[in-house]
Amino acid sequence: MKISTTQTPIDKVSADAIAIPVFENDSKALPQTVKNLMNSQVNLDNEFSGKLYETLLLPLTSKVLLVGAGKKEDFDSRLARNVAGTAVRRLLKSKIKTLAFDANFYENPSLIIEGAGLAEFDGGIYKTAKDKDLKLEELIIVGKLAIGDIKEALEVVETTNWVRHLIAEPANRLTPALIATEAKKIANTYKFDIEVFSEKEALKMGMGAFAGIAQGSHQPSYFVAMKYTAGKNYPTLGVVGKGITFDSGGISIKPSDKMHEMKMDMSGAAVAIGFMRLVGHLMPKVNVVVTAPLTENLPGGGALKPGDVVKSLSGKTIEVLNTDAEGRVVLADGLTYAQKLGATKIVDLATLTGAVLVALGTEVTGILGNDQEFVDQVIDSGNESGERMWQLPIYPEHKEMLRSDIADMANIPPSRYGGVIAGGVFLQEFINEKNSWAHLDIAGTAWLEGEKPYMAKGPTGVGVRTLLTLLKKFDAS
Ligand code: BES
Ligand code: ZN
Ligand code: ZN
Repeated sequence: MKISTTQTPIDKVSADAIAIPVFENDSKALPQTVKNLMNSQVNLDNEFSGKLYETLLLPLTSKVLLVGAGKKEDFDSRLARNVAGTAVRRLLKSKIKTLAFDANFYENPSLIIEGAGLAEFDGGIYKTAKDKDLKLEELIIVGKLAIGDIKEALEVVETTNWVRHLIAEPANRLTPALIATEAKKIANTYKFDIEVFSEKEALKMGMGAFAGIAQGSHQPSYFVAMKYTAGKNYPTLGVVGKGITFDSGGISIKPSDKMHEMKMDMSGAAVAIGFMRLVGHLMPKVNVVVTAPLTENLPGGGALKPGDVVKSLSGKTIEVLNTDAEGRVVLADGLTYAQKLGATKIVDLATLTGAVLVALGTEVTGILGNDQEFVDQVIDSGNESGERMWQLPIYPEHKEMLRSDIADMANIPPSRYGGVIAGGVFLQEFINEKNSWAHLDIAGTAWLEGEKPYMAKGPTGVGVRTLLTLLKKFDAS
């Protein structure tokens, strides 16, 4: 997608189509230039109200698309992005190649590029008869935007869609080895340090938790650690991603319906590794460490059995009562190793629990942590990036959920209530109290079950933009 900007009045811009966002019941406020374009083809009051994501392609020219921006007072950066995406998805259906977008009321026109780029992604990556028309050739922003901002928005789009592509890949294609190779490519491009440990090496180093889950699968597993060093005196942000390339549940096997969806259980790792591309692009004054335990969770003959005990890298022992609660087990070693590499502010991203879907649904990511100031910083970063989060608590009493008769902790609580908190309180056992940590349970938000006006169904890439915004906060402070 080529991006250009122009200050030409909207009715004089040459493009296949011109998209004009309109607030609800605000069509009277349309500028004269826009009215010229419409040529009184429609009686707006009857045919178009400006409701959020409503679209109207004016009939005579098929060139002007009005897109509803909803209520003026509700319009924020998330909706700004989605409104642009809605216009793009509508026009791609009409095989439009060049699109001019009226940035008139966009405080930050970068969001048009983000919305457009995210709207273009299509999950049909193995369809042999590819619909080539599903891409814009050129997006013309009718308004002002600096070249640096354009470049950054394009990088955000590319990274997020790269992450979404990985998540869309089926597990027979996207193995742990392949994700490790992708991480190496990124490390080479930006000259980051990278370590890739095989299952055997990880076990030798003491990562018995990660290796325990890995032992049920024939597919070789890898533990990836990447590091960008800005300087000794800067803080170190750690990002830990759950990288289960397929979660069958292991011996505690899942029901077969919907099991195919568990190819997306590596979403956290894809986001964490993809984030390093943005780090490479920005070269911030913040050190960044990423760790990602990459493995399938399968019930092979060597698999962990319910009741088995593993010893984590931290030295703490875990009774694996349910092999389907594998995410927290592999993350235990991911969190410990990130701290060994110096991370003091840690975010983990994991499709961790079905319970977060019950609690919060599909529009909001669950967040828990040990340091309110840091959690707030992550929530703010999410809000600023259009990725909403809602906090769940961890109280001292929740530690009861970890009780085991045989080991330091069990990986599931005796009751199924409070499943999101149970995940959080388990992970917290692997955080040094002096460090700040936030856990993002993205099981509900990483995958869209049904198409939205602004986005295809399938992987969302949630987390990428929150991390970028958080990184910038650290960079500035
Ligand atoms: N990967 C799943 C969680 C999940 C569910 C992700 C739905 C995406 C959509 C996770 O490993 C899991 O199976 N969790 C169990 C935990 C339980 C056994 C305590 C769950 O949520 O049922
Ligand atoms: Zn599981
Ligand atoms: Zn899982």
